[in-house]
Amino acid sequence: MRVFHTIAIVAFCVILAACSKGEEKAEGGTSAAPAVAAVPSDAEKAALLASLPAPYNTGDLANGQRKFALCRSCHTIAQGGPALTGPNLHGVFGRQAGTGADYTYSPAVKAAGFTWDGEHLDKWLADPRGFLPGTKMSFAGLKDPKDRVDLIAYLKVETGYKPAP
Ligand code: HEC
Repeated sequence: MRVFHTIAIVAFCVILAACSKGEEKAEGGTSAAPAVAAVPSDAEKAALLASLPAPYNTGDLANGQRKFALCRSCHTIAQGGPALTGPNLHGVFGRQAGTGADYTYSPAVKAAGFTWDGEHLDKWLADPRGFLPGTKMSFAGLKDPKDRVDLIAYLKVETGYKPAP
């Protein structure tokens, strides 16, 4: 009986906590800069896409999403997503290559010394092993330049990229 009570109380607290969290989120949504980054709405994604530097502002997000199917077996993109064969890609733009948390990179990527932006990603995705010889990413490359633009636009919108103020 005691045990049942404890479970009931714990369950009640969890429900309470979940509800109050929901309220915070609703309030946060009206302020300009919510402390916790919520998943952006479709309208926010469209606005972010339009604000990207050319040519990414003309990216086709639906095609980018289709091309990401080529990456999905090895990469997650959601915030806090697990590393698979490759690292989680949330926040990759503006991050130095080979420095994502909880992942062991090859020496080639660790020593690359640049920060990921659209231009570096374009070269990397065209030919990963040509761009950074010694990488352990076994991906042949995405040869169509327009597919790369669409995929990079999609990644910018989906991985928490923040345009420069
Ligand atoms: C077969 C698995 C595999 C596939 C498919 C794959 N990757 Fe990777 N990716 C990796 C591995 C492994 C690494 C780490 C490379 C290293 O350390 O040499 C990596 C690294 C990366 C990095 C560097 C991340 C960082 O933090 O420096 C980016 C960006 C990336 N991949 C993007 C992509 C995209 C976009 C695609 C789809 C077009 C893709 N990858 C397809 C396995 C894969």
